Amino acid sequence: MATSTALRITVIGTGYLGLTHAVCMADLGHEVLAIDVDEEKIAKAARGEAPFYEPGLEPLLRKNLDAGRLRFTTDWAEVGEFGQVHFLCVGTPQVPGGHAADLTYVYGAGDSLAPYLTAACLIVGKSTVPVGTARQLTARVRAAAPAGSLVDVAWNPEFLREGYAVQDSLTPDRFVFGVTAAANDETLRRVYAKPLTSGIPALTMDLETAELVKVAANSFLATKISFINAMAEMCEAVGADVLRLADAIGLDDRIGRKFLSPGLGFGGGCLPKDIRAFGTVAKDKGVGSLVDLLATVDTINLGRRTRVTELAREAVGGGLTGKRAAILGIAFKPNSDDIRDSPALDIATRLAAAGAIVSVHDPVAMSNAARHRPDLRYADSVSEAAQDADIVIHLTEWADYRAINPVALAEVVAAPRLLDARCALDAAKWRDAGWSVRVLGRP
Ligand SMILES: NC(=O)c1ccc[n+]([C@@H]2O[C@H](COP(=O)([O-])OP(=O)(O)OC[C@H]3O[C@@H](n4cnc5c(N)ncnc54)[C@H](O)[C@@H]3O)[C@@H](O)[C@H]2O)c1
Repeated sequence: MATSTALRITVIGTGYLGLTHAVCMADLGHEVLAIDVDEEKIAKAARGEAPFYEPGLEPLLRKNLDAGRLRFTTDWAEVGEFGQVHFLCVGTPQVPGGHAADLTYVYGAGDSLAPYLTAACLIVGKSTVPVGTARQLTARVRAAAPAGSLVDVAWNPEFLREGYAVQDSLTPDRFVFGVTAAANDETLRRVYAKPLTSGIPALTMDLETAELVKVAANSFLATKISFINAMAEMCEAVGADVLRLADAIGLDDRIGRKFLSPGLGFGGGCLPKDIRAFGTVAKDKGVGSLVDLLATVDTINLGRRTRVTELAREAVGGGLTGKRAAILGIAFKPNSDDIRDSPALDIATRLAAAGAIVSVHDPVAMSNAARHRPDLRYADSVSEAAQDADIVIHLTEWADYRAINPVALAEVVAAPRLLDARCALDAAKWRDAGWSVRVLGRP
């Protein structure tokens, strides 16, 4: 390995995680070469365009391209030759038709890289994987690499949040280094030398614990969300107010207010598939308590979507056929254009299947949604989406929607009915403007 602080780093997979990681590694001063099997993504990134919406990413991408520290390729030989450290950032979706993680991309990337590994190097997994994957990958890559056992594998799970990905990559709450040798820990400390000097903790551990840390963290977050949503159901049943309840229990610093916002529940490319994959692993290992816990969390979460669909049906008088529903927000969360397992898109789809005429607005995610569900209508503005609507349903809590003028919007709808599935709009303001307002978990 080189002795200066800067390393030659490759990043394999340039999706939400990988592109952000590549850009941030270059910004830390490393020389970075990134590869993806998607040629269009690579061409775009090389032109300085992020293929997805992530605040702050594009300027940093351009800055590091201009500085000559960041390059993109589709050539594995170049990647194999260049990298001292290879970060593996490919997707680990659910297997088609099942709950387990699909490791095709992880092993596929390893298989593509291995024949070009002719010298000592470290492969560092960042993808979220079932426990045991790192060791299997090590054996598989060493068997195919000319450098054999000079190739090592570490796991450094990523905790970034879409919408805050740059900030989370450069200044995370903590680093987790899963390693089999002290030298690999040292290499990771060199990679992250800059953020480590600012006092961010780094926890070194074995590979299995590092793999588990990521799924444990996501499972805990998912559990917290489903807990408050179960409380929202209770509040609805007895006429109590789940927001005040969340504020009150959240002030207990053993509990904390974060991830205690009631509403439509979680979605996206991580939490749902991660808890399902973890449940599959727990079942394989005979850890029944975890299987039950995660299944309940998932069931509560998916139940919110059914509940919102039913409330919409109730609000428009019992039948959705021919009713016009305006959907505010289609991304799985604000500040992202990601629609993977989006609760909002799921509800829009359910309403359309029930015969409603669905008109969708989202500040950035509409083109992704339109590619996935071309049958829905997409409106350029909130008032266009709400034109002649029988109900307006708030499904993704973009800040823009909190700024809507309910007086003006009341003039374009057929009936001023609001269903706030994210408990994020000012219900009193909407009621004052003549709207009938239903908020999940509130009286
Ligand atoms: N998105 C997040 O917020 C986030 C946060 C933390 C962890 N993760 C984890 O990171 C991993 C990646 O997630 P993502 O959201 O970036 O997925 P993504 O689908 O956006 O990106 C994956 C990329 O890998 C590429 N790829 C697939 N096979 C490849 C191969 N053999 N060689 C090179 N590239 C290949 C794909 O073309 C794609 O661009 C997952 O395990 C995910 O759970 C994601």
